[in-house]
Amino acid sequence: MHQPVLVKEVLEGLVPEKCDVIVDATVGTGGHAEAILTKLKRKAKLICIDRDGNALRIAKRRLAEHKDRVHFAHLQFNRIEDLLLDLKISSVSGFLFDLGLCALHLQNAKRGFSFQLDGPLDMRMDRSQSKNACEVVSTYSFPRLTRILRESGQERFSRRIARAVVNRRRRSPILTTFQLRDIVESAIDRRYRIKSLARVFQAIRIEVNDELNQLKEGLSQAIRLLAPGGRLALVSYHSLEHRLIREKIRQKSRGCICPPDLPVCGCGAKAVLRVITRRPVVPTPEEIEANPSARSARLWAAEKLGGGAAEE
Ligand SMILES: C[S@@+](CC[C@H](N)C(=O)[O-])C[C@H]1O[C@@H](n2cnc3c(N)ncnc32)[C@H](O)[C@@H]1O
Repeated sequence: MHQPVLVKEVLEGLVPEKCDVIVDATVGTGGHAEAILTKLKRKAKLICIDRDGNALRIAKRRLAEHKDRVHFAHLQFNRIEDLLLDLKISSVSGFLFDLGLCALHLQNAKRGFSFQLDGPLDMRMDRSQSKNACEVVSTYSFPRLTRILRESGQERFSRRIARAVVNRRRRSPILTTFQLRDIVESAIDRRYRIKSLARVFQAIRIEVNDELNQLKEGLSQAIRLLAPGGRLALVSYHSLEHRLIREKIRQKSRGCICPPDLPVCGCGAKAVLRVITRRPVVPTPEEIEANPSARSARLWAAEKLGGGAAEE
């Protein structure tokens, strides 16, 4: 079972005094959602979203006793606005985004996310989507593969690994996680292997699930939908997510972006968020010891300022 991270800290950052609707945009198997429900007043609602139908089924079972105040939706969080429009909800008291993968993904060889388990090269969070990891390694051109390994994996041997992939697939199809692992291992020096494998698998996963665009769009929609005084809590796990969130929160909390020597503001931009966490919150050593996969987690929280919806 997936162990939720930074639960106490998420609850402190997420649930405001006055609270009608909370959206858990990445409910997974429902760990955070269960904790949120213990803090919500009886008449407040929790909307639970996930793009993984399996995770959603487990969350539904787990939260069955709260079914009168929980709504489940199987979709990508870049469609939160459409969902809330359908539900006739125009503003939200809090949004949680706990990004990345569940234990459910990493521990199941058939999902193809882990280079430590042999399985089909899949990596789709939503198995109804057509693009999978096999398609990426089989059809992307050498420059495109190099670019995603460099940009989404921050892999310094990106060219060498992309070249090895392209050479291998000319001889035989690359269908499994262990085949991809062999290719990466054959392309680089032994001492860099583990780190490079982690980066290559991360890059392909981000590409398959379009994770960074999802995050940009989901975050923009959430900021628009937050009620004044509403809260945004985000848990991120790698530097690309950290950077994107830091920049978005900074931009939305800064307001005027005119050069300091301009006597009057010409841009008209207004701050819409107040930062709650000046620095991202990290797990305690005790939490990391109990749950090593929490070690890279960073929690970011912000509050919507009064009446700023139009400015987002
Ligand atoms: C780290 S897990 C969440 C764990 C959850 N907080 C818990 O306590 O069990 C992240 C979840 O987000 C989902 N997810 C990732 N990107 C998504 C997206 N763009 N739209 C909807 N769900 C997404 C994944 O399928 C996964 O189940």
